[in-house]
Amino acid sequence: MNRCIDAGREGCPCALAEAGNCLVCSRLSGGTCDDCSWQGTCIYTLFEQNGRRIIRERQNRLLPIHEIRAYGPDFSVFVLKADKGFCQKARTAGAFVFVKPPEDHDWFGAPVSVLKSEPERGLVHLAVCACGPKTRRILQESESLSVRGVYYSALSGQGGLLTDPEETFVFAKGVAIAPLRNYLDGGSRYRRQLRNLHLFADLAKTGMDFFRDYFGDLEAGSLEVRDFAREGLCSLDRLDHLEAQCLGRSRINVFALTSPYYADQIQRAVGEEKTILRPTEGNMCCGEGICGACTYNDKNGNVIRRCKSRA
Ligand code: FES
Repeated sequence: MNRCIDAGREGCPCALAEAGNCLVCSRLSGGTCDDCSWQGTCIYTLFEQNGRRIIRERQNRLLPIHEIRAYGPDFSVFVLKADKGFCQKARTAGAFVFVKPPEDHDWFGAPVSVLKSEPERGLVHLAVCACGPKTRRILQESESLSVRGVYYSALSGQGGLLTDPEETFVFAKGVAIAPLRNYLDGGSRYRRQLRNLHLFADLAKTGMDFFRDYFGDLEAGSLEVRDFAREGLCSLDRLDHLEAQCLGRSRINVFALTSPYYADQIQRAVGEEKTILRPTEGNMCCGEGICGACTYNDKNGNVIRRCKSRA
């Protein structure tokens, strides 16, 4: 019943239901209600009541650029004006949107994690690092951006986070640090998952100015700036401590806000049994479970759509 991150949210039933592939409702995927354990509003009924059509799909919306903070030739933060409802949804752990220049085709939409959302001011901050044709085109814009969302599956492992950890280890490299801000701003529900925070940050691609602007409120004692490639993820003492804590099944949370390369290293250090929070792998393209760009087959041969996964 927990297989779809969008189940019960605005936009459900989605295009998968229309195609007969709803991940939650067996009746909408060719079965019966007998094995349904969904506890939210009946998705089948919603679909029927709406004339067997999608209720409301996410649309591109044109958001004016309020400010561009250029931290380097290939890295900027776009501060966009948006309505309060949109900003409130954007202040969710794992929130991301698809962004493109207004005149471009939909396939130029690049998935971008929400860096910061300010519902009270109607502003959303998106950090964009040039890494390919999509992001380079976004960086050329100065008036407005076309934004589709909000989507919620930017992070994997949220279900494995403890609500009252003894310690929290966060490894962050470059722009992948962006989702951390929503954990800091999202109220006690999220903040307590960061108890006794130790943050190891590699700022080589984003710089200290960016860090100061967006994470300057963190206690200096909790922070260690490192070059992961040259110096490793953390000192050997720290790594020994982390391994010992995980082996001893201590109550710790581990965030790997890095590329898969470093996230895999962190996973190996803490052991395969330990669930860590890390960016969802796979190429996010449509975000709706339709295009197949983000899919993989699990060990039973089932097709898993990462964009819809509640992991
Ligand atoms: S991004 Fe298209 S199916 Fe997941």
